[in-house]
Amino acid sequence: MTERCGALGVLLCLILLSSSQALSKRRTPIMGWSSWSVYSCNVQEDGIKVQAQALSDLGLWDLGYTYIDVDDCWMAFNRSAEGLQQANASTFPSGMAALAEWLHARGFKLGLYSDAGTTTCQNRAGSYGYEAVDAATYASWGVDLLKYDTCNTVPGWDPEEGYPIMGKALNNTGRDIWYMMCNWGQGDPATWAGPRALANSWRTTNDLMPLFPQFYEVADANERWWEYARPGQFNDPDTLAMGYLFADPPVTAPATGNTLSYAETRLYFGLWCIMKSNLILSVDFASSEWPRWILDIVSNRHAIAINQDALALQGHRLWSDGEGGNNTDPRAVHVPAGLREVWSGPLVDGDVALLLVNRGESIATINATFTLHGPHCPKDVNVSVYDVWGQRVFGECASHFAMRVAPHDGILLRCSCARPATRPARKGKDRGDHAFVTQ
Ligand code: GLA
Repeated sequence: MTERCGALGVLLCLILLSSSQALSKRRTPIMGWSSWSVYSCNVQEDGIKVQAQALSDLGLWDLGYTYIDVDDCWMAFNRSAEGLQQANASTFPSGMAALAEWLHARGFKLGLYSDAGTTTCQNRAGSYGYEAVDAATYASWGVDLLKYDTCNTVPGWDPEEGYPIMGKALNNTGRDIWYMMCNWGQGDPATWAGPRALANSWRTTNDLMPLFPQFYEVADANERWWEYARPGQFNDPDTLAMGYLFADPPVTAPATGNTLSYAETRLYFGLWCIMKSNLILSVDFASSEWPRWILDIVSNRHAIAINQDALALQGHRLWSDGEGGNNTDPRAVHVPAGLREVWSGPLVDGDVALLLVNRGESIATINATFTLHGPHCPKDVNVSVYDVWGQRVFGECASHFAMRVAPHDGILLRCSCARPATRPARKGKDRGDHAFVTQ
């Protein structure tokens, strides 16, 4: 903000600064782990430590999965005699400050959950009327993320007014806390939380079911708001709930057992990467039963690089074989879904991420025709297509390639100019420098 202020003048700059909120200064989506689809309400201090240790041991911390989000049920049913929110003494006997210290010592960050109502979705003490005191408590404990839910709100409560109260309270603490709104997309939060910079991320849908096509329907609902995402402010389609889920009672998971195939799992991860969604794993790494191939997918450095790209702009559907999906205008805002789809998103240096999707039940060939020409790439230069899952160059092409995609699969690609322009690209011109169509 300050860099841009020179040209605008000090006065305008002050107005801009006072009308937006700082929140967390992180520019890319957060990465980490959530307790909800693993432990549901049976979350305990020891379990959190075991999962964090597993993230370290599996190399996931090294890849950036650093936020450990303790969801609902960490707190007591009632506040302390002083009116403070407090940890459940039997499940978190050391308290949250000690847990934050334990996690920080290992390079992790602590996320906590609260609710804008009088009680949380699981009937623990909510933050309504206690926003300032709770924000101060979290900051004093060393909390780095707050997921803020919307159960049991008082009659007439308006999310557009209620959510900023906690946002401002968090800002007033001076601590860098990622503010994750969770009102399930009610009232289209992208349209007001985004422009007003009220949160770092906002849930766009109801809780995700880790089943096909349910997770894809969540992705569709999240894709719709792609224009509103920007650095530090993202649409949130919920966690990456993968592997065996032991929710008891099964609040979000329909059943225990592994619900997704390998292809579906990498489609799920590919969608979250290209949509610049938070990458919050809700996988029970402490169990011996999670399929080890999940690790191959969520550890893919090239996929993570797409998600963590410095432009931080959300990719979206650009073409589908559905009705009205063959709109070859790269500026088209809403392309209807189909069985075969191409999703695309801009990356730094004029690169483009592509996801070739086959939602159907039989193998499909997807054709892509495009140009990357712009300030980053001279005319008549080939495009290099990198296969993210295979971790190899798929090939170079002038303006067209075709790929076979298995049912329920998504092939994630990174397209780059085979010979970048020698002149440096103009700043701020990255989005729209490329044209991309399919046929
Ligand atoms: C809501 C949220 C979930 C989870 C539960 C906890 O349903 O959408 O993500 O946080 O509450 O009770």
